[in-house]
Amino acid sequence: MIDKVVHIPVLLDEVITGLSLTKDEVYVDATFGLGGYSKSILNNQNCKVIAIDRDPLAKVFADSLKKSHADRFYFKKGRFSELGKFLNELKIYKVAGVVFDLGVSSPQLDIKDRGFSFKLNGPLDMRMSSEGPTAEDFLDQVEENTLANIIYELGDEVYSRRIAKNIVNQRSFNKIKTTGQLADIVRSAIPKKKSRIDPATKTFQAIRIYLNDEIKELEEGLIAAEKALKPEGRLVVVSFHSIEDKIVKNFFYKCLRNTSLSRHLPELPEKKPSLEILTKKPILPCAKEIYINKRSRSAKLRIAKRTRFSSSFGEFA
Ligand SMILES: C[S@@+](CC[C@H](N)C(=O)[O-])C[C@H]1O[C@@H](n2cnc3c(N)ncnc32)[C@H](O)[C@@H]1O
Repeated sequence: MIDKVVHIPVLLDEVITGLSLTKDEVYVDATFGLGGYSKSILNNQNCKVIAIDRDPLAKVFADSLKKSHADRFYFKKGRFSELGKFLNELKIYKVAGVVFDLGVSSPQLDIKDRGFSFKLNGPLDMRMSSEGPTAEDFLDQVEENTLANIIYELGDEVYSRRIAKNIVNQRSFNKIKTTGQLADIVRSAIPKKKSRIDPATKTFQAIRIYLNDEIKELEEGLIAAEKALKPEGRLVVVSFHSIEDKIVKNFFYKCLRNTSLSRHLPELPEKKPSLEILTKKPILPCAKEIYINKRSRSAKLRIAKRTRFSSSFGEFA
């Protein structure tokens, strides 16, 4: 099974160029997945890579990479918001680059038992770390109004109220246990119209983001990365939907201008910019990449460079 799963790294050349790899420096791959970025970093420069992923499957691929790069590659299973703790454990205090490739990996989507996909019928799981409550547990308990708000805010779904009502109504007859059941319930709540995307797309996205606490993770992960970067260090982020991209963009501008673009981020005590933005507009995949890898089509890459001024969020304790 494991040897059959693949993930084509998105915007790989642009990410490697964006990191501006330098000999003997340390880079963090905050979302290891199947290790596409880590492998390329190690092959392109004689540097070290610290990789993080919360998914137990990633550890399997990391163990294999460790065999060929024992002294230059380290893997930590956990959340990227824990970056500071992981660096501390490795006695590394500053790094020259951090890359995030957000969202889910291809195997997470393609293995039906992971329960992320509305295209495959599997158990309603959706947990990246395979720990904590599943999507089935969540949908069994959640209150209708709360569910509608989650689907609206994290899925940008205008039919959120109708979908939440239908879910709560259907669960009173039968427990919702599979991705197929959920997809059908969502589809039947939405007026039929021609659309390029499956009507279940936005609701699945919203439940996944909520269950994995992806918004808080991203905000805390970006702060941890900014604190860890040395002057000139690169912060490289690939996002896949507008909610993520907006958080990344707001974060970059927050560190540049010290303005309150996001209500979620703490007010900054001083005015000196901690980041310089290198991509005024996000870099997008070219037509050829989208043709080869359809999943790259919504990717947006933003890159910033750490300045010599102190961190906007304080140093690690
Ligand atoms: C798009 S994939 C990365 C693919 C990788 N760049 C590659 O080339 O194989 C995203 C990965 O990030 C992981 N992930 C998402 N959020 C995370 C978080 N908060 N902490 C750690 N890992 C996370 C997922 O488990 C998934 O494996």
